[in-house]
Amino acid sequence: MVAPVLLTEDAKDIHSYAIPAEARVTHVALDLVTDFDARQVGGTATLDIQAAEGANRIVLDTKGLQIRSVTNAQGQMLPWKLGNADETLGAPLTVQLNGADQIKITYKSAPDAAALQWLSPEQTSGKKYPFLFSQGQAILNRTWIPTQDSPGIRQTWEARIVVPAPLKAVMSAQNLMPEGEEVEGGGRAFHFKMDKPVAPYLIALAVGDIAFQSLGPRTGVYAEPSMLKAAANELADTERMVEAAEALYGPYRWGRYDMIVLPPAFPFGGMENPRLTFLTPTVLAGDKSLVSLIAHELAHSWSGNLVTNATWADFWLNEGVTSYIEGRIMEELYGRERAAQLIELGWEELEAAIQDAGAESPMTRLHLDLADQDPDEGMSSIAYDKGAAFLRTIEKAVGRQRFDQWLRGYFDRHAFQPITSALFLADLRKNLIQNDERLEQLLRLDEWVYQPGLPANAVVLRSEGFRVVDQQAQAYALGAPAASLGFPKWSYAQQVRFLNALPRELPEERLSALDTTFNLSQSNNSEVLFAWLQLAIANRYDPAVPALERFLTSQGRRKFVAPLFDSLVAQGEWGRPIATRIYEAARPTYHAVTAGTIDRLLKDLPEEQAKAA
Ligand code: BES
Ligand code: ZN
Repeated sequence: MVAPVLLTEDAKDIHSYAIPAEARVTHVALDLVTDFDARQVGGTATLDIQAAEGANRIVLDTKGLQIRSVTNAQGQMLPWKLGNADETLGAPLTVQLNGADQIKITYKSAPDAAALQWLSPEQTSGKKYPFLFSQGQAILNRTWIPTQDSPGIRQTWEARIVVPAPLKAVMSAQNLMPEGEEVEGGGRAFHFKMDKPVAPYLIALAVGDIAFQSLGPRTGVYAEPSMLKAAANELADTERMVEAAEALYGPYRWGRYDMIVLPPAFPFGGMENPRLTFLTPTVLAGDKSLVSLIAHELAHSWSGNLVTNATWADFWLNEGVTSYIEGRIMEELYGRERAAQLIELGWEELEAAIQDAGAESPMTRLHLDLADQDPDEGMSSIAYDKGAAFLRTIEKAVGRQRFDQWLRGYFDRHAFQPITSALFLADLRKNLIQNDERLEQLLRLDEWVYQPGLPANAVVLRSEGFRVVDQQAQAYALGAPAASLGFPKWSYAQQVRFLNALPRELPEERLSALDTTFNLSQSNNSEVLFAWLQLAIANRYDPAVPALERFLTSQGRRKFVAPLFDSLVAQGEWGRPIATRIYEAARPTYHAVTAGTIDRLLKDLPEEQAKAA
């Protein structure tokens, strides 16, 4: 199956050097050895290529790769050239094809490849073996795989990965030999195959002391042995989530749905690598309270992995549609109220994001202009929460039944293909609106997608359970005793809402009463702890600094780490020294994407401090 590439102007990917109209990669075969001492992967990438009539070259994306040679299938050398390296995009690798429809690149990744994080044994939960994981989204995979790193250029792939014994490798693909095989000269080889064409950012690898536990007929979890039990308990509802999603949006097309709980340096909450979602251990609250994250990554099996944004300017088509589906899965499994609370938390974040950026800011549009920007910059809650609000607004206007039917059809019509905002709107008009002028007027589709801010027709969902929380937050600010609060019985979302609803300036007694009554600084729930630490920082509340330091040095999830450093810096002479001190210790443990964000945030610090960081 060769997946089509869109060649319209809005599908042109400014974050890739590829020229798919000339020649494109259709299949990638990796044969790589992981070298934990040198922190490099090295070996060969064999690419199947489809070239247009008369085209005699292919342009690939690379970043920091050490290229040794390029040959055709017969082993004959092909001329190649690395262009100038751009700081964000890396360097184009142009290969002269001389008629070849397959090329073999022998190469090594750089020790500082941004897609790869090499963890020392101390950074794992078992403390005994090193660990490696990759993170491709958005444009990082070019630091370890020389291919056309553009989400609109789908590729099937396979891999043979050699790792030191007794480690295991897992990938976002069919695991052909879960125990691996011995290789001559030591180590074990693992084999993987993805026979569906996927966007190349979805190729992912993890290597470590990894064990597996089944959760259901199609679901299971990998983790370090010491975390496996906790992980399996927390994720026990996953099979039911898959069933709920299928009932709504049609068959799950990837075979198995497994997850891997990674060491705490993993920079995201989750990453929807096909067949193998990558997860932060901060999702393991002990009470399944944070499993909306699983609903989210699972939802990407439709929105994102099956139907994929053609370029990062349309990131909302991945994340906004996914956030909408996440809410629907949560509602199916846990009921309307729990889902509504999460949606309202998202709404709170959206309002804050729009306020921060300014309602007229072009960054608050769904379809973004990312010229001269790292696609990372476009990845704000706008894509997630404005995107989801857009879909809920359409759902409300046409009714759930009609909307569900349309969305399911949308996935079928665009399965294994790239999507753009224009195509999305065209599909809506053709298959849902169908010349209903009144409906067209009501929806304000173009305003939603191409204009900043929030259209006036946005549907706002309010949850029951937050009303009482808001009242109690007011009462608490006015002096009500902590023991009178319903806090211990609330859902985590209510607890977060409560903490966020408190005034940013509180008397010290109000803070200490909260902390001692509810043990906030020791919370096992990373979202509650995060909300508490934000409140504490806003108040320059010294007693919470040890908990803050523990949190910032024990996990590297960017969503938590970056706002906390940001808040510290905003607290001037109180917060800045704390930020630099903690960052000095934490930076070596952070993933490149987390460290990059914090580096930018702290870069206006005095010179020596910035250097030390
Ligand atoms: N695909 C994203 C993670 C991502 C986005 C990685 C952009 C790199 C660039 C993933 O599905 C995601 O959205 N994760 C969220 C959790 C979700 C519940 C909102 C996260 O990591 O916090
Ligand atoms: Zn997502």
